[in-house]
Amino acid sequence: MILGVGTDLAMVDLFRKEWTKESSSFLYDIFTDKELELVDAGNVPAPQRLAARFAAKEAFIKGCGAFLNSTFPIKMKEIEIINKSSGMPVINLHGHTRKLLSTAGAGKIFVSLSHENIYASAVVIITDQIISPEEK
Ligand SMILES: CC(C)(COP(=O)(O)OP(=O)(O)OC[C@H]1O[C@@H](n2cnc3c(N)ncnc32)[C@H](O)[C@@H]1OP(=O)(O)O)[C@@H](O)C(=O)NCCC(=O)NCCS
Repeated sequence: MILGVGTDLAMVDLFRKEWTKESSSFLYDIFTDKELELVDAGNVPAPQRLAARFAAKEAFIKGCGAFLNSTFPIKMKEIEIINKSSGMPVINLHGHTRKLLSTAGAGKIFVSLSHENIYASAVVIITDQIISPEEK
């Protein structure tokens, strides 16, 4: 069963500016080290990929609003978006957010990203499906 759906659109420009800074507390507050490493390792410019991940975190929070009474504050860093070897994105939850979702009966989370030069977008679907060990 679908528990919640969220979508979001983000401007790449903000992430372009932050990415060029020598040290951006904005980026470190939002993204995990793994995410920051991963976006830098592809053919697509990192700011586009960061904007898509930011959109996915916002979309996730929107999706949670459909079935959680006390979503906030969810830490953006506890919502981590990485890729399978196929390139397919997956969401890993950490800390308080992981516990909150587990207690609420959430299971498998689907995420899809898209990015181009100006905008990036994401859709997130949260279900109550059990996650099999090999999918974790
Ligand atoms: C997946 C694909 C359609 C992306 O389309 P695109 O218009 O080039 O790029 P978009 O900006 O819209 O999407 C890029 C995002 O697609 C996602 N993506 C990449 N491979 C994916 C896959 N196999 N399945 C699902 N999503 C995928 C990623 O999240 C990627 O962003 P990221 O690398 O920053 O995480 C393209 O890479 C492709 O044709 N891949 C080969 C076929 C394929 O793997 N199809 C999916 C399985 S049927």
